[in-house]
Amino acid sequence: MSYTIWFTGMSGSGKTTLSTLVFEELIKRGRAAEHLDGDVIRKNFSQELGFSQAARDMNVRRIGFFTQMLNKHGVICVVAAIAPYAQSREHNRDHIGRYIEVFCDCDLDTLIARDPKGLYKKALQGEIANFTGISDPYEHPRSPEVHVRTGKETVEQSLATILTFLEGEGLLNATTP
Ligand code: ADX
Repeated sequence: MSYTIWFTGMSGSGKTTLSTLVFEELIKRGRAAEHLDGDVIRKNFSQELGFSQAARDMNVRRIGFFTQMLNKHGVICVVAAIAPYAQSREHNRDHIGRYIEVFCDCDLDTLIARDPKGLYKKALQGEIANFTGISDPYEHPRSPEVHVRTGKETVEQSLATILTFLEGEGLLNATTP
């Protein structure tokens, strides 16, 4: 048995940073794991998809299906993808054997101030259509397994919260079935 840990949240909310650290921790502990990052998946796996609701749903479900296959073979999947719609997140929750949702919660003002990729600036200027949080919805998770406030906490604090959860569930160590 394996599991999928899915980092959801708006662009720039820390999904890639935190999921990379969790992935590295799992590898350090000798676990078989894969890191599925939204930007990389889109480039290699879903290049034809845009950002309409239908395209995002397809992207999120494709990733979910892929994680089921990897999980079946004992590979832990660490996913970082916005997954803005509750319905497709719930679809994955229902289909993935063990699904753990980590909500990277950062307020829009902070995201706009940080804007490491310059995307919020472009979206606010109308240069990117359907941009999550600006001109497209992000439906907040109602009951994520882990909720990190990435706008208020340090990376270390958020990481500790996630690792403490996984440890508590017996999901970190190689002895976990
Ligand atoms: S999802 O909605 O389908 O889950 P995903 O996580 O794969 O999104 O891709 C989001 C990434 O695509 C962002 O990190 C950003 O770099 C880029 N991007 C380009 N256009 C948009 C947009 N309109 N809304 C959100 N992200 C976008």
